Amino acid sequence: MKLFAKIFIVILIAGFIGIQFIKVDRKNPTVKADLRAPQEVKNILKESCYDCHSNETKWPWYSYIAPLSLLIEKDVVEGRRELNFSEWETYDSKKKAFLMKEIWEEVENDEMPKAVYTLTRPNVRLDSVKKNIIKKWTTGY
Ligand code: HEC
Repeated sequence: MKLFAKIFIVILIAGFIGIQFIKVDRKNPTVKADLRAPQEVKNILKESCYDCHSNETKWPWYSYIAPLSLLIEKDVVEGRRELNFSEWETYDSKKKAFLMKEIWEEVENDEMPKAVYTLTRPNVRLDSVKKNIIKKWTTGY
């Protein structure tokens, strides 16, 4: 192997090891005021949304390996900031109504759950039956 290629590989390996030391916060804050909703709605949200939109994130084994860990942490931090079902019952009615509208918009257009997430979990994509349950909950019909 050419010296250049060897140096390149050493740098890659060193870089991979180096990024493992970046701190990732996988702590789940306590659940303060979890969403109250019909059980069929909760089941869907728990299965397809709670990993990024609640304090009950299940961190998969690959969330311990950078750079994946960093990408997953970012999704969880941003996801919780936009919408956190573990704090839902602390939101006022205006915020709830706004988020319900947003939820249906995201679900109707297949924007959520995020595509990178369903790549490894095709079964948490929402089929038409599940979408209809979300539609009824968010829009009332
Ligand atoms: C892999 C993590 C992940 C999953 C799973 C996920 N979301 Fe999100 N969601 C995010 C992130 C990150 C954002 C903020 C950035 C963005 O909009 O992409 C977000 C934003 C949102 C927003 C705010 C809308 C906006 O315009 O930003 C809503 C509403 C939402 N998600 C609903 C849902 C629902 C409902 C589910 C389940 C059916 C779900 N999400 C599943 C990561 C996720």
